[in-house]
Amino acid sequence: MASSQMRPTFEGKVALVTGGARGLGRAVALGFAREGAGVGIADVDEVAALDTASCIRELGRRYCVIAADISQTGAADTIVRQTGTELGRLDILVNNAAVASVEPFIEITEEEWDRVFRVNVKGLMFCIQAAARVMMQNGSGKIINITSPASRMGLPFYAAYAASKAAVDSITRSSAIALAKHNITVNSVSPGRMDTDMQRMTEEKFAAYAGVSVEMFVKSRTQDIPLERRISPQEVAQAVLWLASPQADYITCHRLSVSGGLEIS
Ligand SMILES: NC(=O)c1ccc[n+]([C@@H]2O[C@H](COP(=O)([O-])OP(=O)(O)OC[C@H]3O[C@@H](n4cnc5c(N)ncnc54)[C@H](O)[C@@H]3O)[C@@H](O)[C@H]2O)c1
Repeated sequence: MASSQMRPTFEGKVALVTGGARGLGRAVALGFAREGAGVGIADVDEVAALDTASCIRELGRRYCVIAADISQTGAADTIVRQTGTELGRLDILVNNAAVASVEPFIEITEEEWDRVFRVNVKGLMFCIQAAARVMMQNGSGKIINITSPASRMGLPFYAAYAASKAAVDSITRSSAIALAKHNITVNSVSPGRMDTDMQRMTEEKFAAYAGVSVEMFVKSRTQDIPLERRISPQEVAQAVLWLASPQADYITCHRLSVSGGLEIS
């Protein structure tokens, strides 16, 4: 991992983080800034994105905020173009923005299914494509997609989200092979349970369906993790930064699980 004693790992580089306003995306954006990168934050929540940006400014790094919904047609091109215009280049893309949906399998509506897939799959796919076009011209690039342990699990109350993350795994594989000859690596990180806004919202709903208190549900869901603790967004961000670093230059098409053993339990 990078050390603050040495030259910052990402000095002179530019990283674009979707969903960089809150949760894991914010930790990733600040992690890159601490290590010298300029950071583009693309998020639907402009107010929260500006707050993350003010922290990046305090670190003395360059930034841009792009208020955008990645699920909208053409949004990916706009986000990538604006990053290039404001920060001059694009070296790293972290596809982090996602939405979750909790409902019993038999009650999932088409609207909810489409909402999840538009953001988690379509948005991610076209952000890769738009960024890759720029990276191909540069002759290199690093793309990191945020997947989830859910992509490999059978989850009757989380089917749309789990399926969308399985699609992320598939797109990671296809894009890694398609882009390898252009010296662009594509990998994914599968985080364990982090206490973010998304996790809070989903656990409240899971607990309600299970008919138990949120506190009880969260406690048992933490004990289920082989390492018996949750992970912070900052700890997951370290894995993302490592995959974007020169130390991982020969790694592509890899899915890095940072889930405390959750995926093998
Ligand atoms: N929280 C967990 O325990 C957990 C576990 C495994 C995987 N993940 C994954 O980690 C990533 C980050 O999750 P989080 O928990 O930090 O979520 P979060 O809800 O706390 O943050 C997500 C961010 O994405 C933004 N966003 C949502 N939809 C968007 C859109 N259409 N366009 C642009 N921005 C959008 C939100 O405004 C927010 O800033 C997601 O890909 C999630 O699936 C989370």
